Amino acid sequence: MQQNSDALLAAMRARRSIRTWQSRPIPREHLERILEAAIWAPSADNLQPWRFVVFQGERKQELAALLHRFAAGMQPGINPVLWVHRHGIRRAAEMIAQAAAVVTAWAVFSPSDAAVRLVASGDLAPLFTWTMVVESVAAAVQNLLLAAHGLGLGAVWLGYPNLATREVHAWLGGEGQLLATVALGYPAEQPAPRRRKPLPSVVRWEG
Ligand SMILES: Cc1cc2nc3c(=O)[nH]c(=O)nc-3n(C[C@H](O)[C@H](O)[C@H](O)COP(=O)(O)O)c2cc1C
Repeated sequence: MQQNSDALLAAMRARRSIRTWQSRPIPREHLERILEAAIWAPSADNLQPWRFVVFQGERKQELAALLHRFAAGMQPGINPVLWVHRHGIRRAAEMIAQAAAVVTAWAVFSPSDAAVRLVASGDLAPLFTWTMVVESVAAAVQNLLLAAHGLGLGAVWLGYPNLATREVHAWLGGEGQLLATVALGYPAEQPAPRRRKPLPSVVRWEG
């Protein structure tokens, strides 16, 4: 048991965000395996409010091009918030273009879903419901990252494409809200671990 725990923690500690990749494609079975890991994440009320879209080849390049156009179309006076993030969006587009594959994770839920059972009757507390959905999808994405690491793949979680959720949706069709984009492939870099805040500074013990 202790050995399992050691191996799991070691894998979690060794995972890095990887942002440059070899051109080698990822076998379909490996992509299926990491998606399988994603769907075994916990979710609020077991709602499983996630959908995944996997991009490879030409469609992946189209996604990258869409994000480049989105960044190029920004104007500081019209939307200053987006303008601040234009470099991040461009950088995300470059990574999407270079990675062997990209998995986007979407949140889907409608008021008729079981999600509403999470809240007291009469008060749908939409923010609570929405955070439950977001947390569930994030858990799936973390499972996906760890499974990718376990297969020798390197991945990075990209948040910037979320800013273009409406544009991606209009291009792609389907349902839901874009919550995470994971670019992955066989690593072409070995970055040093990024510093973690020391445990005592982030944990408070009671009792
Ligand atoms: C919600 C979320 C969004 C992120 N968005 C980006 C992003 O848009 N671009 C990027 O290069 N890295 C992104 N990252 C990766 C973080 O920068 C990275 O996880 C952090 O610096 C710690 O490094 P590590 O993953 O190697 O431990 C994101 C990570 C998370 C969890």
